[in-house]
Amino acid sequence: MVNMGIVGCGYWGPKYVRNFHEMAEANLTMVCDLEEDRLEQVRRQYPYVATTTDFGDLLKGGVDAVVIATPVSSHYRLAREALLHNKHVLVEKPITASSKEAVDLIELAEKRNRVLMAGHTYDYHPAVDFLRQLVKSGELGEVYYINAARLNLGLFRTDVNVMWDLAPHDICIVLALLDAEPITVSARGSGHIDPAVYDVAYLELRFPSETLAHLHMSWLDPCKVRQITIVGSKKMVVFDDASEAEKIRIYDKGIAVPTDGNNFGTWPPSYRYGDVTIPFIANAEPLKLECSHLLQCITEGKRPRSDGRAGLKIVNILEAANRSLLNGGGREELPSAIAIA
Ligand SMILES: NC(=O)c1ccc[n+]([C@@H]2O[C@H](COP(=O)([O-])OP(=O)(O)OC[C@H]3O[C@@H](n4cnc5c(N)ncnc54)[C@H](O)[C@@H]3O)[C@@H](O)[C@H]2O)c1
Repeated sequence: MVNMGIVGCGYWGPKYVRNFHEMAEANLTMVCDLEEDRLEQVRRQYPYVATTTDFGDLLKGGVDAVVIATPVSSHYRLAREALLHNKHVLVEKPITASSKEAVDLIELAEKRNRVLMAGHTYDYHPAVDFLRQLVKSGELGEVYYINAARLNLGLFRTDVNVMWDLAPHDICIVLALLDAEPITVSARGSGHIDPAVYDVAYLELRFPSETLAHLHMSWLDPCKVRQITIVGSKKMVVFDDASEAEKIRIYDKGIAVPTDGNNFGTWPPSYRYGDVTIPFIANAEPLKLECSHLLQCITEGKRPRSDGRAGLKIVNILEAANRSLLNGGGREELPSAIAIA
């Protein structure tokens, strides 16, 4: 039984509260938020849970592990304090606001032999697992490009721009699907509501295989869109995470390019239109799987799938993309692995 503490009970934190409340292997011990009315709501739903507005109380309150679901700017300070109190820590995405902070947390967790996990929910998503297997099997052929759109009206943040807020999800998915790391990144965007905080951004990742990933993020779109298109040389796939029952469609479509050495004679290529398949995807809640994984890592002393280093990888990409965003969209090289003591 792992005694769990959760800090941050705004939009996302209550989902952790519900999940750990439902899990037999966890004892939801204490919830912390700066806002008393949010805690009041927790007490009403889960009267056995202790609440506090003081993070220090949570650290002294007998918890084994802490989930940090507060704004990004506070992740590092809270996670560091928790590790210094020998707690296992799960930090929401992005793990920190800078790579320097992420490296510090990784070193501290390793020194203290504590689990440090990033809240990369899509690493636990059954549809992403399915897609990863599909790409690996070669059924799609060579992946030409991946296009991702994560759009909605809001939720606006003040401490990070839309790219830091939303891109971690799609970067995680793209890295998982390609099983590779990008070599360059570039980004463009603009801030319409608050010019200092970009509310729309377009991010491009280039991979050694020449695969291109293009990510569109916006807090200013009329419709909620969570869609990823993977275009392969043999088949194409659309992953629509906003769809309840039909998240993945595999299109047996493609182009046969003439290869007889005399292209002009046989041009244009022929277009192939085949079946559209909708595979069955288990309807498991990714966050529940993520929470179970955390408990398993704590009890079995295992390294999480989305460990601190996975969190750092995302932050490295975001940092380079942010440089590009501020430099008019030029390509930025990604640093090779940062040395961790
Ligand atoms: N994995 C996902 O799919 C997903 C989805 C949404 C948000 N998130 C992440 O979750 C985190 C929180 O996002 P949100 O949308 O819930 O934000 P939010 O603003 O709705 O909630 C944050 C809460 O943290 C509280 N808080 C802030 N500083 C605190 C402190 N020092 N001590 C205690 N409480 C504090 C605030 O009072 C607020 O209730 C962010 O890191 C975000 O990126 C992840």
